Amino acid sequence: MNRRITVSLMLLALLASLAIHTLAQTPAESPEPNKDAPARKSPAERGADLYATYCALCHGKTGEGYLADEANALGNQDFLKSATDDFIIEAIVRGRPGTPMSAWGKERAGVLATSDVLAILAFIRSWQKEEPAEVSRGTADGDVKAGSKIYKRWCAACHGQKGDGASALSLNNTVFQQTASNGFIAYAIMNGRRETSMTEFKSRLSTQEIEDVVTFIRTLESVPEQVSAGPDSGVEFTPERLKRALLNPGNPLAEFSPFDGRYVPADVVHKAYKEKKSFVIIDARPYNDYLKSHIAGAVSVPFYEVEKAVDYLPRDSWIIAYCVCPHAMSGKALDGLREAGFEKSAILDEGFNEWKQRGYPSIKD
Ligand code: HEC
Ligand code: HEC
Repeated sequence: MNRRITVSLMLLALLASLAIHTLAQTPAESPEPNKDAPARKSPAERGADLYATYCALCHGKTGEGYLADEANALGNQDFLKSATDDFIIEAIVRGRPGTPMSAWGKERAGVLATSDVLAILAFIRSWQKEEPAEVSRGTADGDVKAGSKIYKRWCAACHGQKGDGASALSLNNTVFQQTASNGFIAYAIMNGRRETSMTEFKSRLSTQEIEDVVTFIRTLESVPEQVSAGPDSGVEFTPERLKRALLNPGNPLAEFSPFDGRYVPADVVHKAYKEKKSFVIIDARPYNDYLKSHIAGAVSVPFYEVEKAVDYLPRDSWIIAYCVCPHAMSGKALDGLREAGFEKSAILDEGFNEWKQRGYPSIKD
C-alpha cells in the first residue's frame, strides 16, 4: 500500500478512536485532563512566570541580585535559611518604603493577589538548598551608644549613616523594622551573606557588640510606609486615557538625541518641559507608586503593561520613560516600546528622585 495512504488511514483511525473516547465520556467520569491542554502549573511554576515578569529585572533571573542597584540576592543561601516566609511575603506585599522596591500586593494597590505572592514565595524557596538556620529570637537590650560607634565604624559605609542604604540594603524603613526579628538581624551580622560584600562579623565583633549594634539598628529613624488609595490592580488603557498623554498638544514637538541611543539627561527633558514642547512622559513604575507621586503631566504605563498601552500611544512625538531605579523599570519599558516600533523613545537618565531633588514639577509626595 502507498505509504501516504497508510499514514492517512492510521490518522483516521486515531481520530475516530479519539472521537469515540470523547463521546463516551460523561462529565462525571472525565477527571482525565485533556492531554492537549497545558498541564496545570504548580505554584512554583506559576511563581517562576510571575517572578520573570515582575522581579527578575532587578533581583536577577536566579536571584543572583544586583541587576539594579541594591536589589539583594534573593537566592543567597544565608538569606534563604534565615528569612521566614512572613518576612519575604511582607517585603513583597508592602515593599521597602523609600527604596526602588515597590509594594506589589493588592492590599497595597499593587498587581499581585495573595495567591500570586505565595506562588512567587514558592519559586524563591525552590532555590534554597540548605536547611533553615536556627535563628534565635534575639533581644535588643544592648547599649545604643556603643552600638552606634560600632555601626559608624563597620557598617555605615555600605548601609548609610542613617541606615538609608548607601550601597546596600536599607535598614531604616518601617516594613523592614516591623518584620525583621532581632534574631534575623543578628544572624545576618554574625554570618554575613556569602558571595556578597556583606562579610561575617562574628570573628570581629563579640556577642555583646553584636547585641549593641542590633540595639542601635532598632533606633534608626523609620521611613514610613505610604499607603496609596486607588484601584486594586493594574491599569486599563483606553484611548481616552492615553490621548491625554501628550503634553502640550498642538505645540511644536520636542526633539531629543539620546546618548548611547537610550538616555536623555533630566535637565534636557526639563528644558523641553518648561518650553511647553509637545511630548509624552510615562511613569514605568507600578501604578501604586505613580499614585503616591509622579512627574506632573506623566501618565502611568507600568513596565509590565507596555504591550497593552502601545496601541494607544502617539507615534510621531517623543516618549520619555522614567522610574526611580533609575534604569531598571524604565529600561524594560523602553525595550517594550522599541519592540513595538517606537523609535522616538528614551529613558530619563537620572530618574525620578533626581528630578524631584532639583525641584522640577511633580505631583504630591
Ligand atoms: C526596581 C527594582 C526592583 C524590582 C522590580 C523588585 N525589587 Fe525587590 N528589592 C529591590 C531593592 C532595591 C530592594 C532593597 C531595598 C532596600 O534597600 O531595603 C529589594 C528588596 C526586596 C526584598 C527584601 C530583601 C531583604 O532581605 O530585606 C524582597 C523579599 C524582594 N525585594 C522581593 C522582590 C520580589 C518578589 C519582586 C517581584 C514581585 C521584587 N522584589 C521586585 C528592587 C526591586
Ligand atoms: C561592604 C559593605 C557592607 C558592610 C560593611 C556591611 N554590610 Fe550589611 N549588607 C551588605 C549587603 C550588600 C547586604 C545584602 C547582601 C545580600 O543578601 O544580597 C547586607 C545585608 C545586611 C543585613 C540583612 C538585611 C536584610 O534585609 O536582609 C543586615 C541586617 C546587615 N547587612 C547589617 C550590617 C551591619 C550591622 C553591618 C556592620 C556590622 C554591616 N551590615 C556591614 C553590605 C555591607
